[in-house]
Parts: sequence; structure tokens; C-alpha cells
Amino acid sequence: MSKLVIVTHPNIEGSVVNSKWVSELEKYSDNIKLHSLYAKYPDLNIDVAAEQELLSQYDEIIFQFPLHWFGVPYALKQYMDQVLTYGWAFGPDGDKMKGKKIGFAVSTGGAQETYETMVSLEDLLKPVYVSFQYCGCEILPTHRLYGANQGITPEFVEENAKTYAASLL
Ligand SMILES: Cc1cc2nc3c(=O)[nH]c(=O)nc-3n(C[C@H](O)[C@H](O)[C@H](O)COP(=O)(O)O)c2cc1C
Repeated sequence: MSKLVIVTHPNIEGSVVNSKWVSELEKYSDNIKLHSLYAKYPDLNIDVAAEQELLSQYDEIIFQFPLHWFGVPYALKQYMDQVLTYGWAFGPDGDKMKGKKIGFAVSTGGAQETYETMVSLEDLLKPVYVSFQYCGCEILPTHRLYGANQGITPEFVEENAKTYAASLL
């Protein structure tokens, strides 16, 4: 069963990590469907019905994004607000996300040490995890790359991208 990866990056042309993740996943187009919110909706006018239809076609969905101000980029928050609607994702007859597996792939500019001593990625992403759990989803382990702005090497990014892809195959 093919998996859906929803990418939220406001500047993928300037990206090192998320763009590498995308190019690695593109090698497996039989198994992985990539969907970029900013490519589809440059003005963030999200087609809610189309997004709900897309979600309904997949049992496993990964949300990929860079950490922005210790949370999800605002476009992803907008997506959640608009697409996970009452009566569809929760509430009466709102069972369309029920039973789906939801994963996350997150890059941070800050060093791994920051996320081991100051606050963990799991703590930061808790509201997102709980939102999907509230919709009846199962949360998968989060793939991550720490320290994107700390002088990482292309080899490190490439290795991380391969590990990410392997986790989805
Ligand atoms: C608006 C904005 C907010 C950011 N906030 C954080 C943050 O809170 N913590 C962090 O570690 N990195 C933060 N960063 C750095 C990005 O997470 C980092 O540049 C990105 O993960 C690298 O991935 P990329 O090469 O795909 O862009 C922020 C970057 C931007 C543009």
C-alpha cells in the first residue's frame, strides 16, 4: 500500500534537508506519493475537499516539515485547522481519519543537544500528536534530523535521507 507524504516548506528552493528528503523519496514513486502544500497552494488557498479526498485514499500519511518557532510551520497549522473538520475528522460521523497511521519527519536548525537538554521534539509536537490521536489516528515514530544550521555535511544529510526513505518502504 502506497504512503502519502505531505511536505510543508515555504522555501524548498533554499532548503538543504527537506529538499534532499524529497529527492530521495522521489526515487520510490511506486510506494510513496509526495504532496507539497506550497507547490499546490502558493497562496495557501487550500482546497479542503480535495485534501480530504487525498487523505481518504491513504492509510499511512507522513507530515514532513522544518521546525519553525518550536512548532509546525503555520501553513501546516492552517491545513490542520481547515482540513480536519468537525463531522469529517471528529464529532458526529467524523470518522474519516480513524485508524490511519500518522508519522512525522522533522528537521531542526538547532543542535541535537538543545532537544535533549532544553525541550524534546516529542514535547514540542505533543499538540500535533494529540490532535491526530483525537481523530482516532495512530502516531508512528518521528523521523528527525537535528542541527541543520550547525554545519552538517552533505553526507550526513544524504545518510539521513536514506534512513528516512527506508523507514517508509
Ligand atoms: C521562521 C523560522 C523559524 C525557525 N524556528 C526554529 C526553531 O524553533 N528551532 C530550530 O531548531 N530551528 C528553527 N528554524 C530553523 C529550521 O528548522 C531549519 O533551517 C530547517 O529545519 C532546515 O531544513 P531545510 O534545509 O529543509 O530548510 C527556523 C527557521 C525559520 C525560517
